[in-house]
Amino acid sequence: MTVTAPMARKKGLFIRTYGCQMNVYDSERMADVLRPLGYAPAASPDDAEMVIVNTCHIREKASEKVFSELGRLRDLKAQKRRDGQDLVIAVAGCVAQAEGAEIMRRQPAVDIVVGPQAYHRLPEMVARAARAAANRQGTSKGAGVLDTEFPVEPKFDYLPAPSTVKGGAAFLSVQEGCDRFCTFCVVPYTRGAEYSRPAQAILAEARGLVAAGACEITLLGQNVNAWHGAAPDGTTWSLAQLIRALAEIEGLSRIRYTTSHPRDMDDSLIAAHGAVPKLMPYLHLPVQSGSDRVLEAMNRRHGRDLYLRLVERLRAARPDMALSTDLIVGFPGETDADFEDTLRLVREVGFAAAFSFKYSARPGTPAAMMARQIPDDVRDARLQALQALLGEQQRAFNAAAVGRTMPVLFQEHGRKPGQLLGKSPWLQSVHAEGNARLIGSIVDVHIRATHSVSLSGEIVTVEPVEAAA
Ligand code: 5AD
Ligand code: SF4
Repeated sequence: MTVTAPMARKKGLFIRTYGCQMNVYDSERMADVLRPLGYAPAASPDDAEMVIVNTCHIREKASEKVFSELGRLRDLKAQKRRDGQDLVIAVAGCVAQAEGAEIMRRQPAVDIVVGPQAYHRLPEMVARAARAAANRQGTSKGAGVLDTEFPVEPKFDYLPAPSTVKGGAAFLSVQEGCDRFCTFCVVPYTRGAEYSRPAQAILAEARGLVAAGACEITLLGQNVNAWHGAAPDGTTWSLAQLIRALAEIEGLSRIRYTTSHPRDMDDSLIAAHGAVPKLMPYLHLPVQSGSDRVLEAMNRRHGRDLYLRLVERLRAARPDMALSTDLIVGFPGETDADFEDTLRLVREVGFAAAFSFKYSARPGTPAAMMARQIPDDVRDARLQALQALLGEQQRAFNAAAVGRTMPVLFQEHGRKPGQLLGKSPWLQSVHAEGNARLIGSIVDVHIRATHSVSLSGEIVTVEPVEAAA
């Protein structure tokens, strides 16, 4: 007779992620840290014993959206309690950091509020929540466990390394927080001071990711090019040095990094774009505005000329370099002439892609207190004009790919049967018919057509012929 050890009962964990890639990365780390407690991914909140809402504070009405989602989860929790089950509700991310106490007060069904610097303490918080829930059986009141402390010790030392890589592409968080204090931005308040992980830990995580199937790694940080970390040789490396060390990892074919600040693009990083073929010819470099006056009011600490010069130097180092950016219209005090300067800068650069936003006041940030807030209809009109121009540029950039052959990292199935979906070196989405075995590998594709936001083509690499039996 075989005796099998009793299996730990699996509990469903559903994580809803809003916002940036850092949040996506954080959600995966939260899932990793909770796995030893028996939590496994659930398909929906209905199937879950725990739901984490990983919030983002950047977008307009971010907290209202969180509160309406929490209202729905409170109802689900009440329903589950009636059925003799439980639902742990946790709120993570930047809204949790900024409004943790308010969340607890306004939505008592919430069990856990966890700030971005405290994810490694989640297991302990879940245990506390479970004890509190046991004492409150029959009500849908939450446990009220809150941890939004900034770290006394860096959380990265306590988080498990990522365990899985899907489709050959992985994210690796190297830097958190920001010291730049742009006047519109909440990040320095919600994510705290700039912190760079040591190079050794990053290299070890990268090797682990490559061993788990990653051929592309995107280094993440709120201000990633400010990264400067303790190096194995006892010195302090710049991001360029880190990238050169990562490029030595066999099996790693593509390196990207995001998001960068123009003032932190140093000579060595620009040079790395020319010298390291694995560094992809695509850079997300937010400019926010093309007006020197507005840039100054935003506390960006650079003018339009510095940005344009950077673009020139990047293209000189790597002629096929494509750029994407973030832009804000309707910053307080922005005149028609300022907005024209933004359009002029966009025309001069020619972006491959861009995210553009209407300015919206974030409580507690200096810009929220500035005079001459711009009326909504003006902000709308400017956003529309800007997006029309950016859309034209993106279409032109994609159209230029037709007829070319480019390496594509296939990451998943496409929408149609037999179709694969991947990314070009310039981060364009590319569809092609192909064998599912190609997911996770880089294959040459001849581009035939452009669609609204993607390309399609045919695989040109000859697939290995399977030996006859
Ligand atoms: N209003 C509008 N857009 C903002 N962003 C950040 N804060 C605000 C705000 N208060 C945009 C910036 C940033 C991107 C992530 O979000 O363009 O680069
Ligand atoms: Fe926010 Fe980026 Fe400015 Fe930092 S550099 S304050 S993250 S916009």
